[in-house]
Amino acid sequence: MILSIESSCDDSSIAITKIENKQLIFYKKISQEREHACYGGVVPELASRLHAIDLPNILEECKPYLNDLKAVAVTNQPGLGVTLLEGIAMAKSIAVTKEIPLIPVHHLKGHIYSLFIEKEEILPLLVLLISGGHTQIIRVESLEKMTILATSIDDSVGESFDKTAKMMGLGYPGGPIIEQLALKGDENRFDLPIPLRNSKLIAFSLSGLKNAIRLTIEKLGGSDAMSEQDRCDLSASFQKAVKLHLIQKSKKIFEQEKIKDFAIVGGASANLYIREAYEALCKKFGKNLHTAPLEFCSDNAAMIGRYAVEAYKKELFVDAYEIDVVHTKKRQSGTLL
Ligand code: KG4
Ligand code: ZN
Repeated sequence: MILSIESSCDDSSIAITKIENKQLIFYKKISQEREHACYGGVVPELASRLHAIDLPNILEECKPYLNDLKAVAVTNQPGLGVTLLEGIAMAKSIAVTKEIPLIPVHHLKGHIYSLFIEKEEILPLLVLLISGGHTQIIRVESLEKMTILATSIDDSVGESFDKTAKMMGLGYPGGPIIEQLALKGDENRFDLPIPLRNSKLIAFSLSGLKNAIRLTIEKLGGSDAMSEQDRCDLSASFQKAVKLHLIQKSKKIFEQEKIKDFAIVGGASANLYIREAYEALCKKFGKNLHTAPLEFCSDNAAMIGRYAVEAYKKELFVDAYEIDVVHTKKRQSGTLL
């Protein structure tokens, strides 16, 4: 079995996965959403302190399995440095005391492997990753060969939902709140700009749309003056603009890439309105759409464990005394390290 740890942002999570058949033996996640809600976003220092409390508590529940571990895996990039360190410290001590190999996991590769929890891999695969930190389209050929075909030049999809919610005086995380309000709204009421609509660039950008939201709220007299219907209509109009942007750029990639399997992963892939739009696009291009179960769209250790099963077979280990946080820059294109 492999014990996997995830602490890259505001979720403390541990999973245990059976190497032989990929079965998820144990899984738990403690979310800190409530603690960060009043700040409208994640406060790294607070998140780190909460991981220091929650991770050991979850580990206590894993006691019956600790003697059967063949390896330990941990997210070491990308993410918040101070929160990654909490998971790394725990993984290090388990690896050293149990004398088992340590597997470092790239968080975004983990999101991709959320598709394969308790399942076989489907490769090659085109993936749209929409999370709180990233918006990318990635060509996945193997565990080690993942190429970024398009990426965000500013705010990510999840971030734009969070910021829109914050500007309207709603809670955190913004994604589920906006999605729910949008169900009761008129998506055609506000004429918001579709980002990069007239640009040939195959990339994602949401900061212009964010600015348009800010100006619209100002015109309505500020967030306090907005009615419930204003909030619903603005949420729906915003979501529509995000969808049209994602679909327009994805279509360009679909025209170039012949791979038949396409997936959406990451926290924002839980959005059913966006999923529906991709169902239609995939149908048009004859592609098969794959998504992870809703509970594994946002950050979790089960996806880290599923990736680690494949990494274990390839012996992608590091020295427990050497592992550290890897600082990753946002890339324009290239290989997902
Ligand atoms: O993947 P994730 O849990 O963490 C990162 O790796 O960043 O993604 C979190 C992001 C948040 O920004 C949250 O607002 C967004 O995913 N999210 C959603 C939905 N559920 C979560 N965005 C849009 N619609 C949703 N239903
Ligand atoms: Zn994530």
